[in-house]
Amino acid sequence: MNSNPPRPDRIMQVATGGWAAGILGAAASHSLFTHLEAGADTADQLAAQAGISGRGAQILLDGLVGLGLVELRDGNYRNTAEAATFLVEGQPACLSGFTKLKLAEIGQWVTLPDVVRTGAPMTDATVEVANPFWEELVPALAAQSVPVAMIAADTLRLAEAGEISILDVGGGSGIYSSIWLGLNPAARSTQLDWGPVNAIARRLVAERGAADRFTCIDGDFHTTDFGTAAYDIGVYSHIAHQEGPEDNVAIFAKFRGALKPGGTLVINDYIVDDDRSGPPFPLIFASAMLLKTKQGRTWRRADYHAWLAKAGFEDVSFQPTPSPTTLVFAR
Ligand SMILES: C[S@@+](CC[C@H](N)C(=O)[O-])C[C@H]1O[C@@H](n2cnc3c(N)ncnc32)[C@H](O)[C@@H]1O
Repeated sequence: MNSNPPRPDRIMQVATGGWAAGILGAAASHSLFTHLEAGADTADQLAAQAGISGRGAQILLDGLVGLGLVELRDGNYRNTAEAATFLVEGQPACLSGFTKLKLAEIGQWVTLPDVVRTGAPMTDATVEVANPFWEELVPALAAQSVPVAMIAADTLRLAEAGEISILDVGGGSGIYSSIWLGLNPAARSTQLDWGPVNAIARRLVAERGAADRFTCIDGDFHTTDFGTAAYDIGVYSHIAHQEGPEDNVAIFAKFRGALKPGGTLVINDYIVDDDRSGPPFPLIFASAMLLKTKQGRTWRRADYHAWLAKAGFEDVSFQPTPSPTTLVFAR
């Protein structure tokens, strides 16, 4: 007899995953983690600080304890180390905006059975210039990119690299420019993105004191020229998964032409093992691309290798990060 018969718990957890996203997004919407960090430690205090009902506060706290994001000791609540690091507002790596955005998107998933049948959504959320989706997504995504941009800076020794020029394609919030220009006072950066998104980036980079070394090009990266032998570093972060193979090869070739000899293209994305056995987050994320794009999915290391070789890059290496993304360096 099998001493470990299958249990239903994990399927129950997955089937009710929307509840977990709801609890997390609601707690973030009412700044619960921030109030906990500031010292409120009972349901009544949190209700008063957050301006929510006592019933709501208690039930949300129960849910957060159930999810392992809040601890209860001797009748008092406090953030776990994870929540204190990633869910308290005002910290650079705060994912609170991201959790609110994911909760707002949750209704879209009811269309997945139809999208799976047809193979593509009715509209592609990534191809519209003035898509409000970007203006919500890019500041929320910035927190995820912070630790990765720091790691890439370390690997490339950007702080000591002197007068370098950077091209960030689809730079969004300008988070790479903010961090790298902050680390290297002689560096300059150019971001290519839609006009309304560049306006957000200009504001955020200016807040970090690097506005005078940051330039934007408004346009579609499929059709905009990237220039010739003008940059030391190229960045393509969280974009390859929205594009199909042909577009990725074409964009990598434009990067190759825009980089100086010896320049490096830095790609950051959710990358799948060649045999498609993992890692879990990139495998799961592909369904979000099926839901939102006509050609996107998470791509394998072998895909990046093949496309970068086709585009003229000779030396390609991969570096895992503490986030679900992998960095790719191509020269
Ligand atoms: C997922 S966000 C990534 C932002 C940033 N690179 C990061 O890693 O935090 C994708 C970015 O690509 C931009 N984008 C998507 N399609 C584009 C296109 N065809 N032309 C220009 N920008 C585009 C979006 O506006 C958005 O800023």
